[in-house]
Amino acid sequence: MSTPTDQDQTSTTNLTSSTSGDLPHSNEHICLIGLGAIGISFLALHLTYTSAHVSVYDPRPDLEEHIQSVLPLYLPAPSASSSVSIAGLISSKRLVIHSSLQSAVQAATIIQEQGPENLSFKQSTWSQIISHASPTAHLWSSTSGIPASQQLAHLPTDHPARGRLLIVHPFNPPHIMPLLELVPSPSTSLSELTFAQSYFSALSSGHRPIPIHKESAGFVANRLSFILFREACHLVNQGVASVEEIDEIVRASLGPRWAVGGPFKMYGFGGGKRGMEGFLDNIGEAIDGVWKDAGTITMDLGRDDPEGWQRKVIDQTDRAYGVLGPEEIKQRDKGLRAVVQVQQDLTGKDGEHREL
Ligand SMILES: NC(=O)c1ccc[n+]([C@@H]2O[C@H](COP(=O)([O-])OP(=O)(O)OC[C@H]3O[C@@H](n4cnc5c(N)ncnc54)[C@H](O)[C@@H]3O)[C@@H](O)[C@H]2O)c1
Repeated sequence: MSTPTDQDQTSTTNLTSSTSGDLPHSNEHICLIGLGAIGISFLALHLTYTSAHVSVYDPRPDLEEHIQSVLPLYLPAPSASSSVSIAGLISSKRLVIHSSLQSAVQAATIIQEQGPENLSFKQSTWSQIISHASPTAHLWSSTSGIPASQQLAHLPTDHPARGRLLIVHPFNPPHIMPLLELVPSPSTSLSELTFAQSYFSALSSGHRPIPIHKESAGFVANRLSFILFREACHLVNQGVASVEEIDEIVRASLGPRWAVGGPFKMYGFGGGKRGMEGFLDNIGEAIDGVWKDAGTITMDLGRDDPEGWQRKVIDQTDRAYGVLGPEEIKQRDKGLRAVVQVQQDLTGKDGEHREL
């Protein structure tokens, strides 16, 4: 198994230059609105795998310190052929930190927002962006679940910005995780979908943009993940297994299995020669029993209730893992990079399956 090291990536990367090297998108100017967990990770992705200029805006008073302390964790480490510092990125103007949204968006060809997850923030931010940005700028939102049609529902139905907004939903952390769910609203033009697909497909990182056919709450990856998470919380609440035990069960079973093939393909193996039909015939009754018995816990139960499921899940998780700091982030990223690399070794960067 070959595992990528940070040094491997920097050998072909000069992060301070927006014009040199073979990196794509030298004509693009990305503006990131919101530099929290997702924003910083996207910043690392664009800086590492493209040669686009990047502008950032976030009203937090410690923005520059925040970038200085977190971004180096996500960027390739300096090597003999490339030494990168945040100061170098800023002085070369590859990265520009803005103190107003207006100046941040002005020259942008792509505006990507990852601010707070609430509808009123998204709507008021898009209104500001639209009034200051180029009328041809591509508009992307990283939202986990607020569809594009809702984010622009306050605008007239024939407003041209409706054709330009596309959800580009990442899986955390997006500088490593390959998935980008591209979720258009019924008004988003096809050319926006095609542009975002070609933007991410051009990266040497193996990112995998996947168009989603219809808007729905949570799109696809989170719907699947949150349903699993609900059942995991239910099992903790019922005392069937602890937080740590469930994490280990997933790591030892579904994790490796689903890293190799998705649920349909892998369950298809379970049906032998008859594939999925055989599987559903053989195991269908057992599946139905679990579906009928599945937990139905909701978020309505207060955290302060000592008997509530939320309290149990929070307390057990805190006891098991404590506060996850920079060292744990490094370990997480090392593990994720290794798993993504194994997938690429098996299937190629474009997801085409090779012989296993
Ligand atoms: N965290 C995840 O796992 C994850 C995964 C995928 C998508 N998302 C989505 O990404 C978005 C951001 O999530 P996050 O986890 O990075 O949140 P976060 O709280 O870490 O970051 C949000 C950032 O927005 C900034 N902000 C606040 N007001 C702002 C304004 N007026 N203009 C610009 N920036 C402003 C905050 O200062 C903060 O830095 C959300 O829409 C979320 O649903 C999150």
